[in-house]
Amino acid sequence: MKSITHHHNQALREVYQAIRGKKLQYHISTFGCQMNDHDSEKMAGLLETMGYTYTADETAADLILFNTCAVRENAELRVFGNIGRMKPLKAAKPELIVGVCGCMMQQDHMKHAIKDKYSYVDLVFGTHNLSALPDYVRRVLLEKERVVEIIADGSIVEGLPVVRNLDVKAFVTIMQGCDNFCSYCIVPYTRGREKSRTPEAILEEIEGLVEQGIKEVTLLGQNVNSYGKGLVPAIDFADLLHRVNAIEGLERIRFMTSHPKDLTDRLIEAMTLDKVMPTIHLPAQSGSDKILQAMNRKYTKADYLGLVDKLRQMIPDIAITSDLIIGFPGETEEDVDDTIDLIRRVEFDAAFTFIYSPRVGTPAAGLPDETSERTKHERFDRMLAVLNEIVIAKHKAREGRVFEVLIEGKQERSAAYQGRTKQDFLVTFSAKPEDIGQLRPVRITKARKFSLEGELV
Ligand code: SAH
Ligand code: SF4
Ligand code: F3S
Repeated sequence: MKSITHHHNQALREVYQAIRGKKLQYHISTFGCQMNDHDSEKMAGLLETMGYTYTADETAADLILFNTCAVRENAELRVFGNIGRMKPLKAAKPELIVGVCGCMMQQDHMKHAIKDKYSYVDLVFGTHNLSALPDYVRRVLLEKERVVEIIADGSIVEGLPVVRNLDVKAFVTIMQGCDNFCSYCIVPYTRGREKSRTPEAILEEIEGLVEQGIKEVTLLGQNVNSYGKGLVPAIDFADLLHRVNAIEGLERIRFMTSHPKDLTDRLIEAMTLDKVMPTIHLPAQSGSDKILQAMNRKYTKADYLGLVDKLRQMIPDIAITSDLIIGFPGETEEDVDDTIDLIRRVEFDAAFTFIYSPRVGTPAAGLPDETSERTKHERFDRMLAVLNEIVIAKHKAREGRVFEVLIEGKQERSAAYQGRTKQDFLVTFSAKPEDIGQLRPVRITKARKFSLEGELV
């Protein structure tokens, strides 16, 4: 474990001195998952320590960072489109600093694409060296260097300042990287090997957050269920949940994401602890054993259904959400039927659905794929229709029920307040500013498409 180095602190001070009084502003565009959201919070923390202030308006910014995602092709295309927008901005304001970082930059071909084709990008770095941001900004700003620095893998860096977006709930990383190598997935290549933070560092961070008024934490990792690998003394995710559950003043604990192969009975048991919320994001990916095997997921449809039974038995009001992929190479109509059957049997509360996107360097990218895009889209629509019907019916059935919500704040574009139930369902209702941060029962009056409407009782 490392903490922010002396060298970087030195750089931080130099930038601070150089930009003092100049009112420089930064903007960060984040793509991808909560890992990236949280990395952006850390980069915001570093930039603010350097003396930059945040602006939501790109055109007013003096430094713009793109924190990129490589998980599917459309994520990458969006990033390219957004970086393209920087050209006129940079032409109008030559001193503007444009940086690109995150998962896409961990891939050689993407690093080169940005470096060679986007001359107005001043700074390129990856997922393993964001703690060096002060030094990179120093070099671009003061030495007029173009900085391109990617490292293949890194260790956990503790002690970075963090600017968080929310004042009621917060993300806390408990592990980085992924060792699962699902055959379609780029994440193990962009995030490196699994590394767990020590329980001491995690507990200290959460205690600090609770002191600042945070009521809910989401423990983050690509596969939190394998937390603890390599730590001495030995600890697993169930142990960690017990220790976090004991933190006084903390009200709610969530975690993301769980891999079905590592969801042990011990862990399901720990999910019955009072502060651990009755919800789990448990990506199934497919309901076909043949496809699951080709995906290197290491469980079968029957295993998955068995886990769902256990979860529902131990935690009756649990919400189960998932990720599903259609169009993996070699997938047939029957395989899609198996996935649809899984959806019907589990009755997911929600699921993210994706069309398979080949990723350079992953094993699946080399598989022959004879299914046309059109067929894939038809199958996708067929699956989505079944899923939507189930999700909407479950949603509708919540009308009239009372849920405990944690009141998060006012909505951006309306007078309504919003909160989340224990299951993480979004509810809007009217409330007062002093209700923010409170746990209150809410009766659901109407199920809307993506949220529930309710009233405090
Ligand atoms: N670590 C998490 C998920 C990370 S990526 C987990 O394993 O649960 C989020 C989701 O993106 C995955 O669950 C998968 O459904 C989807 N995904 C990943 N790679 C993909 C690809 N190449 N094409 C389509 N979807 C993909
Ligand atoms: Fe990707 Fe699989 Fe790791 Fe999730 S568990 S990040 S899908 S390799
Ligand atoms: Fe994307 Fe990287 Fe997350 S590839 S999904 S931002 S870990």
